[in-house]
Amino acid sequence: MEKTVVLITGCSSGIGLGLAVRLASDASRRFKVYATMRNLAKKERLLECVRGCHASTLEILQLDVTDPLSLAAAAQQVQEQRVDVLVCNAGVGLMGPLETCSFQAMKTIFDVNVFGTIGTIQAFLPGMKRRKAGKIIISSSVGALQGIPFNAVYCASKFAVEGLCESLAVILQQFNVHVTLIECGPVNTSFLANLQRTDAEGSALQGLDPQTRALYSQYLQHCQSLFRDVAQDTEEVLQVFLEAICAPCPPLRSFTTQFFMPLTRLKLTSPDGSEYVRAMHKFVFSLTSAKHAAVSSAPSEPPGLCAPTWETPPQVAAGGWCCRHRSPHWARPPSLVQGTGVERGGAEGCISFLLRA
Ligand SMILES: NC(=O)c1ccc[n+]([C@@H]2O[C@H](COP(=O)([O-])OP(=O)(O)OC[C@H]3O[C@@H](n4cnc5c(N)ncnc54)[C@H](OP(=O)(O)O)[C@@H]3O)[C@@H](O)[C@H]2O)c1
Repeated sequence: MEKTVVLITGCSSGIGLGLAVRLASDASRRFKVYATMRNLAKKERLLECVRGCHASTLEILQLDVTDPLSLAAAAQQVQEQRVDVLVCNAGVGLMGPLETCSFQAMKTIFDVNVFGTIGTIQAFLPGMKRRKAGKIIISSSVGALQGIPFNAVYCASKFAVEGLCESLAVILQQFNVHVTLIECGPVNTSFLANLQRTDAEGSALQGLDPQTRALYSQYLQHCQSLFRDVAQDTEEVLQVFLEAICAPCPPLRSFTTQFFMPLTRLKLTSPDGSEYVRAMHKFVFSLTSAKHAAVSSAPSEPPGLCAPTWETPPQVAAGGWCCRHRSPHWARPPSLVQGTGVERGGAEGCISFLLRA
């Protein structure tokens, strides 16, 4: 049987690397993977993960999504002269008070996350349309659907990609080309370490008002505890990518976690945005990390309280969004919610409870 040709951007680490390894190692050898990265000097990690035994299923190509020549050269090297599944995964983050973000840093974020994604899609879309078949999968983020304090520029770039993809999806359904945004929450990759951030102790903050400085310092603690307590493992997130790759008609959005759903949903239930602003402020600045920790460190042997709800996540009817959450964190009964009446609310119940606290 003909292999499904998958091209992935940003495979030097994290989600891209994990997905390339997973697909290239498929027991039935269903995929031919073009794992691309901007700097081939970083390919050793990927090669170590596949241990050299994937000659027929994996090829590594240089591709910098901000460089049209590199993009064209990579497209030329696809032997099959077609890409069935394009995974736009390359992305960078930027964290800090807006006043401290340099123009160059903001431009880089948009060059990679927005124009890099657009350029990559442009390179492979004509072939997909011609063949009347294809899937475009995007490594998106809950920060693409809701604003996150001190991540304004990153969120702006990810929001832009949501608008791009939602608009494309309307047209592309006629060409049997499916666009899927994988909405990830925090994932245990090098993303946090790699992102550009304003140093909490650095000179960039010196000219800033004390209130913003204090809020930023609080945010950094929140972010640290959020990644420590609720970040998903890459393998768990990859499962959602695999489902989108294998589904005949994947949805426009797939969520890797339901943890943030109560916040995300406020956009629909309270369209003027004031509820969201209030709730997000509370989540970041009023709730202590001890609460996140208490939720995620609850005993792993459930006394039958929450597991059924965790295992069969609800579909969110509004807007046709497809949600799922399999995190082992949330297969645990959160001690915080026991006896509060929100035990059966899944991961969503946990954050709803925290917001009501
Ligand atoms: N981890 C999270 O918490 C999280 C949450 C939501 C969404 N996401 C999204 O998931 C995607 C993957 O992130 P990750 O978590 O796997 O982080 P990561 O380990 O930092 O991976 C990012 C990848 O993007 C590559 N990249 C950056 N600029 C590029 C360019 N100009 N051309 C080609 N590749 C480039 C990086 O390559 P270099 O090694 O050369 O820099 C790296 O391979 C990103 O789009 C991110 O926004 C991540």
